[in-house]
Amino acid sequence: MLIAHISDLHLKKEGQLVKDQIDTRAFAITAIDAIAALNPRPDMLLMTGDLADAGELEAYEWFTKQVDRIGVPTYCIPGNHDLRAPMRRAFRRYGYLPEEGFLQFTVEKGPVRILALDTVIEGKAAGRLCAERIQWLAERLAEDRDRATIVMMHHQPFETGTGFDRIRCESTKDLANVIASAPNVERVICGHMHQNIVTRWAGTVASVCPATAHQMATDFAKPDRLVVALDPPSYQLHHWVKGTGLITHTRHIEPFKEVV
Ligand SMILES: [Fe+2]
Ligand SMILES: [Fe+2]
Repeated sequence: MLIAHISDLHLKKEGQLVKDQIDTRAFAITAIDAIAALNPRPDMLLMTGDLADAGELEAYEWFTKQVDRIGVPTYCIPGNHDLRAPMRRAFRRYGYLPEEGFLQFTVEKGPVRILALDTVIEGKAAGRLCAERIQWLAERLAEDRDRATIVMMHHQPFETGTGFDRIRCESTKDLANVIASAPNVERVICGHMHQNIVTRWAGTVASVCPATAHQMATDFAKPDRLVVALDPPSYQLHHWVKGTGLITHTRHIEPFKEVV
C-alpha cells in the first residue's frame, strides 16, 4: 500500500504571494503534477491541513479541480488557516466529511486504517482536541485493535523545543494515553511545522510532513524564532511493507536527475 501525503499548501488568492515572492498555487500545481506522474500510482492522497491560507471557498474548489487530475481518493483535514464550513461545502461530493461537527473521519481501505482528527480552534493558531474529539478517537481505535493504523492531525502533539511549541496541539495528555493504549497505531502524521520532523511519542512514531510551498527552518541559536525558508517543497510517500511496517520517503518536488 502506497500513501501519498501533502501538507500546508497555504493557497492564497490568485496572484497573491507569501512574503511577496512565494506563489503557493504554482507550488501546489507542481506537487500535484509530481504525484500524478508517480508510477505506480499511490492508493490515496492525504492532506494534513492549512490547505487554504485564509479559509476561502474558492481556494478549496480550486484544489478539488487540481487534485482530481491525480485520479486517486484524496482525504483532507483542516489546519489553523482553514475554515470548516467552506471545506465541508467544497468537499461534500466526495462523501467522507461529516455533515456537521468536527471534520473527523476514518478511511477503511487496504491494510492500513486511517483515523483523521480535527485539531482546529477556529481563529487561533494553536490546536486542541476536546473531550468529544478524543472520545471519538478512543471509540474508533476500540473498533479494531489489530490493523495497522495511521492517525492524521494538523497540529503536532509533542514538544519540539522551538517556537512551534506556542502553537502546538495543547493539552495532549489524554490524547497520548489513548494512543499509547493502542499498539496498532503505527504512526501519527502531522503538518503545521513546514519541515521534516520525526520523534518517538506516546509509544509510537510521530512525524511531520514538509510543506508543498514555503518551509520553516529551526535556528538552533534562537530556537524560539520561526524562520520562513526557501528549502525545496516536498511531499511524503508512506509505503506499507508487510513484516516491516510503514516506511516514509520524503520527496523534494524540484526536478532532480537520476544517477545512471
Ligand atoms: Fe501551515
Ligand atoms: Fe498550521
